[in-house]
Amino acid sequence: MARYAQVQGSVALITLTNPPVNALSAAVRLGITEAVTRALRDPKVKSVVICGENGVFCGGADIREFAKPMTGPPLVPMISAIEEGDKPVVAAIEGVAFGGGLELALGCHYRIAHSKARVGLPEVTLGLLPAAGGTQRLPRLIGLAPALELITTGRHVTAQEALKLGIVDKVTDQSAQDLAIQFAQEVIGQPLLPRKLSTQLTPCPPDVDTILDEAMARVKQRARGAMAPVACVQAVRAAVNLPYQAGMQKEQELMAFLFRSSQARALQYCFFAQRAVGKWSLSSGAHSGNSKPRPVTKAAVIGLGTMGRGITVALVKAGLSVVAVETNKKQLEMGKQMVSAMLKHDAQKMNAVPRLDLLHYTTDLSELKNTDLIIEAVFEDMALKKEVFKKLSSVCKPDAVLCTNTSGLDVDELASVTKRPELVVGMHFFAPAHVMKLLEVVRGSRSSPEVMATAMHLGKRLGKVSVVVGNCSGFVGNRMLRPYLDQANFLLEEGATPELVDGALEEFGFPMGVFKVSDLSGLDVGWRIRKEAGLTGPNVDPKDPLRRRQGRRYSPLPDLVCEQGRLGQKSGRGWYLYDKPGGRVATPDPDIHKLLEDYRVRHGIRPRQIGSQEVLERCLFALINEGFRVLEDGMAMGPEGIDMIYVFGYGWPRHRGGPMFYAAMVGLPRVLERLEYYQQVHPDVPHLQPSSLLRRLVVNGSPPLDKWRDFLQRPHSQL
Ligand code: COA
Ligand code: ADP
Repeated sequence: MARYAQVQGSVALITLTNPPVNALSAAVRLGITEAVTRALRDPKVKSVVICGENGVFCGGADIREFAKPMTGPPLVPMISAIEEGDKPVVAAIEGVAFGGGLELALGCHYRIAHSKARVGLPEVTLGLLPAAGGTQRLPRLIGLAPALELITTGRHVTAQEALKLGIVDKVTDQSAQDLAIQFAQEVIGQPLLPRKLSTQLTPCPPDVDTILDEAMARVKQRARGAMAPVACVQAVRAAVNLPYQAGMQKEQELMAFLFRSSQARALQYCFFAQRAVGKWSLSSGAHSGNSKPRPVTKAAVIGLGTMGRGITVALVKAGLSVVAVETNKKQLEMGKQMVSAMLKHDAQKMNAVPRLDLLHYTTDLSELKNTDLIIEAVFEDMALKKEVFKKLSSVCKPDAVLCTNTSGLDVDELASVTKRPELVVGMHFFAPAHVMKLLEVVRGSRSSPEVMATAMHLGKRLGKVSVVVGNCSGFVGNRMLRPYLDQANFLLEEGATPELVDGALEEFGFPMGVFKVSDLSGLDVGWRIRKEAGLTGPNVDPKDPLRRRQGRRYSPLPDLVCEQGRLGQKSGRGWYLYDKPGGRVATPDPDIHKLLEDYRVRHGIRPRQIGSQEVLERCLFALINEGFRVLEDGMAMGPEGIDMIYVFGYGWPRHRGGPMFYAAMVGLPRVLERLEYYQQVHPDVPHLQPSSLLRRLVVNGSPPLDKWRDFLQRPHSQL
């Protein structure tokens, strides 16, 4: 769909009309093709402007069409027809010109952008490359190095940067469309050939091969197994080494390969899943009552430890005024220094002024009486949190929303000490809270829909991917992590080393293996929790044999490591040896190998050769199995929620779509068969027992992921 109008006598104005982002659907492509043909044929038309309605130029190809057979005119000849025509065509870019939208603009002879507009080629983030000439025209326009950077990262650039780079010709604070119409008249009769990018050569610096080789090395290192960034470099190389038509041929070949890949499917799934999880308040039918978010202008954070500081910074950056509370003057001053430093550092990077004026610091809880929403972030200790919540319930205004930042404590128990349990909700931030994109919003059994909507809305304002989860131990992310960690420890007992397990997981695409992550977070955290749970330490039931605790298999290896004072990076030693205390360079440690060997001898374990396939199956399938149980228990809205939690909070490689998507790709029968096998070998590990949902799905022919909900016995009962 494209509207056609003749304006100012001789200018044809073509307007893309496909809300909300004017994606290039079959109908839009047909509309543009017809409108351009008409404009080029009409002798009264001397120049053309292409724009988009509702202040958006174009959000690119219609991603929803990728899964369907192609219909309508293809993009490449459509864009070529614009470029090859003998009338100047000007793109008026407002809002965004992304992907195919920017490629369309690159086929135009001139580009005018509004100062608030952004442009970019984000295809790589969808597992693809810009295959409507983007990889061939952009290097010809702005040169090799900047084009490589934009195409391989998919980074969006502002209009100002686009002007500097030469992507657009003019930027205006007024209407880009009006300026483009005026400009289109001014350029009538000017030579068009230099403006036709396909006829130009890519500017080639003398060290072109080095630039390309370095880009390839950088991309391979960063991609963690993703194929699209590598293909992007190959396509841009063609823009340098080959004539335009041959370069286009190469671009098409690479695209055909990527388009069919499971990685592209995974990344496109993530695109929609990310948007779907944010819609809880609109889509969930499981609750009744008002689910409109409440306005929040003034918030408070209790406790300025690691989490509280990050949360405070995130709130201030989103423009909220914040009251920050600590127990005493010393802690308060320390917190203040850190928060100010973080905000200043951040503002410096963005070339902005830090909003220190939005903060008020106090040790007096009564100063919270005007705040709309309070986030408690004190130590992870139920008794302390209860004490704080009791006080909050008496000092805050009656309708203030009370949030607890906890990584797994029972939200209902906490809510029960207040006078208003319906206003209590869990907000599980991930450290560092001002950086990490994930937020688990925990619905207690009495949290009202309005309060849930408020927390979700706040998450959105903070730029988080917010996922609603149920109130169960560890919520969703940490609950699924337990079987994964257990399996990693069992593998060490049976013959693996930390570097072997981590190597397999990193090869899979995690930025860090499980043992490196544990070293980074500090091994003492889990140790303390295990002591409190009576799994290790003096309170262990002496009747429980050493490698069985509370009736199930238990690995004391992490406890043994901690007992040696190896607490991870901070002590310079953990599962690995570090260059210095606090250092980050991990090397395998012979002392750990010795500890493992001694342990096996002591317990009569004959070490086995363990391959990466077993590592992946045992760690990942155990985690996935718990994911099915989470769904079965109604603790997540659907597989998309679980997947987004893992992609945004736990380093699951995005090009593998998240654990539940990955299970579907591997094939549910295979996941079930391997779980059954490992369960037979390790009958004392309950989490290897396949979940009943997984069994039911397999019996029913392994339906696609979006149909799994139909097989739940208690759909969404907890949310
Ligand atoms: N194709 C199909 N649908 C698209 C789309 C596209 N290229 N871009 C956005 N949409 C849809 C979204 O799925 C969403 O649909 P929903 O309302 O049913 O959930 C809707 O348009 C609005 O998008 P959203 O991202 O929620 O809005 P926004 O204003 O925050 O952002 C964009 C708008 C254009 C910046 C953002 O959607 C985007 O980056 N889109 C993808 C661009 C891209 O990768 N293009 C290359 C395609 S190869
Ligand atoms: P985390 O890593 O979860 O953020 P920290 O131990 O780093 O935990 O921080 C908890 C912070 O909470 C500490 O700075 C502590 O002083 C503060 N705190 C503890 N109890 C209270 C309370 N009752 N009121 C305000 N702050 C508190």
